[in-house]
Amino acid sequence: MTNENNNNRGLWGSKIGFIAAAAGSAIGLGNIWRFPYLAGENGGAAFVFLYLFCILLIGFPVMLAAISMGRSAQRSIVGSFKTLAPDSNWKYVGILGVITGFAILSFYSIVAGYTMGYIFKTVLGSFNNIQNAQQTKQIFAEFISDPYWVFICSYLFLFLNGVIVYKGIENGIERWSKRMMPILFILLIILVIRSLTLEGALAGLNFYLKPDLSKITGSTIMNALGQALFSLSLGMGTMITYGSYLSKKDNLVTSASYVCILDTLIAFIAGLAIFPALFAMNLAPDQGPSLVFIVIPSIFSKMPGGIFFGTGFFILLSIAALTSTISQLEVVVAYFIEEWKWSRKKATAISVAVASVIAIPSAFSGGIVQFFTKLPVYGGDFLSFMSTVFGSYNLIIGSFFIAVFVGWKWGVHLASEEIIKGNPHFKIRFLWNFLIKYVSPIAVFLILLNLIKSSFF
Ligand code: PHE
Repeated sequence: MTNENNNNRGLWGSKIGFIAAAAGSAIGLGNIWRFPYLAGENGGAAFVFLYLFCILLIGFPVMLAAISMGRSAQRSIVGSFKTLAPDSNWKYVGILGVITGFAILSFYSIVAGYTMGYIFKTVLGSFNNIQNAQQTKQIFAEFISDPYWVFICSYLFLFLNGVIVYKGIENGIERWSKRMMPILFILLIILVIRSLTLEGALAGLNFYLKPDLSKITGSTIMNALGQALFSLSLGMGTMITYGSYLSKKDNLVTSASYVCILDTLIAFIAGLAIFPALFAMNLAPDQGPSLVFIVIPSIFSKMPGGIFFGTGFFILLSIAALTSTISQLEVVVAYFIEEWKWSRKKATAISVAVASVIAIPSAFSGGIVQFFTKLPVYGGDFLSFMSTVFGSYNLIIGSFFIAVFVGWKWGVHLASEEIIKGNPHFKIRFLWNFLIKYVSPIAVFLILLNLIKSSFF
């Protein structure tokens, strides 16, 4: 490690190191798997529109708040709350974050396992001679109901994740993030070009970009906010933990802006690749979580060199997923190291083992065990249930508390002092203070209220 601070915690090797790692955390299956399927289920452009609003009014201010908390306290999520508000109940927000971290890591690793499995499927030629999207749909359904594929790939993925987190911050995380993201970006652009030039693509473009505001309901707003926070890795302590490895010289405003812009750009481009192709293939947009796994192989099968590009795509998507799960695992591991005084090795090994167990019902939910494919009361499968409860609701609750904490408890004054350390001008100080004190918490509160109202009354 090039830098060591006084408590011997690692520090990022360079400024770009933090941005790369934080962007690596943000960019993942959330952008390429979750964003398109939620947009498809929630009316297309209207959702996209709301999503952008959520990023600007809630995502960006909360991101800056979280990073400044972490850098000021130099601790993981629970420790940060304890340091900035000693002897208070705020630490329970931190504990909620750790629990959420475990839960997200568990279902996310299953989808990441699908992604890794698709590398082998593509190489082995499963997508050669695809005539229509029904076939790719069939292949996916068979794949996720095959316990060998699902468990081997997902556990392999979790194991790799553990190895990288065990090696520590700079050696593991930074190195992976920096190199791979630009290549993923280029491959996505190639996909967009192919998708847009398919016959019938225009209808998809309309669905994706021409908002029909009558489609907005309470649950559309809730889903858009949940997805914005999920995609930016907010609400469970990732950015607090990553922020704690930043040095006082770093400019938090530019770092947060880069991460928000890159993340939003990638999600937007992923949608641009998926929807035109989806409509060209005459599929309905509400395919749910299987959407990307149906559409992407179908696009590649219509491309010269499809096997080559397809394999590359699933390799890169797996790496993008890995840089995200690393950040989920790091939240949990940093917590055990600090609060339970475990060694990094022990903390990593136990966390991975626990996550592997929690992941089992999500692994079953693609068809291996019928009960988990259609839960009573909820109606959907277990993985979607975890994704909604932990990947959306808990992140919304966590972000709400982070905004209230920084706006009112720790206080915008102290938070701004922290931000000024690496950014003496802090031009958007008043705007940010206003957003984090009033706009973000009130908006989140109203959205939560609306959800409770629509689910119970
Ligand atoms: N932001 C990641 C993605 O878009 C997922 C994630 C959520 C990572 C929460 C960390 C914390 O894929």
